[in-house]
Amino acid sequence: MAILSPSLLSADFARLGEQIDILNKKQVKYLHFDVMDGIFVPNISIGIPVLQSVRKITDSVLDVHLMITKPERYIKAFSDAGADIINIHYEATDCHSEIFKQIRDLGKSPAITIKPKTDWTEIIPFLPQVDMVLVMSVEPGFGGQSFIESSLDAVKSLAEYRSANNLNYTIEIDGGINLDNVTRVIDAGVDVVVAGSSVFSKGDLAEQTDKFLALIDKRK
Ligand code: DX5
Ligand code: ZN
Repeated sequence: MAILSPSLLSADFARLGEQIDILNKKQVKYLHFDVMDGIFVPNISIGIPVLQSVRKITDSVLDVHLMITKPERYIKAFSDAGADIINIHYEATDCHSEIFKQIRDLGKSPAITIKPKTDWTEIIPFLPQVDMVLVMSVEPGFGGQSFIESSLDAVKSLAEYRSANNLNYTIEIDGGINLDNVTRVIDAGVDVVVAGSSVFSKGDLAEQTDKFLALIDKRK
């Protein structure tokens, strides 16, 4: 069954503990944590001290999405702060294999992320080294953007490549996911669905989460 990974980028940071508690009670398996450096993407978000605090109040898998240039500088720091999955952008570094090995050696789960315009075939050499591939379905940097349909082509190709080559990575999608398209992206082959503004900013958090979980449950 697919997994929902609510993106904390859209949380109300003045009530972060309370909102995470609501998600804990819903037994959300993953929490998506977006880190932005103002260079790789034109925005700055949250980082290591916030991750440390979040780690203390949840047992959910912390799915950390590093939208930072040269992520190799901060792998150990994010691992120590409590990340479980560490997503690095293919476009942000030249030393992917070394990073994946470091993440693995730290006992964490390596993942590679591609922007919507990146050809998925460029990451083929790294697919045996990662546990997850994150396909961006908006240009990274901001929540609340519209879903880019062509990202589903990459999802389908990555799912076909995985079965043809006996690989095990899961496929995650991030950006513009809502209650109207979540079923469609799961049917295209997505295993982990990130949703930010549709979970946190469209009414009651507990109710929105229930609605997402019910739609995901129907697709098992
Ligand atoms: C955008 C971030 C996303 C963001 C998604 O760069 O990577 O995780 O929170 O937000 P929505 O779901 O609102 O598109
Ligand atoms: Zn993200």
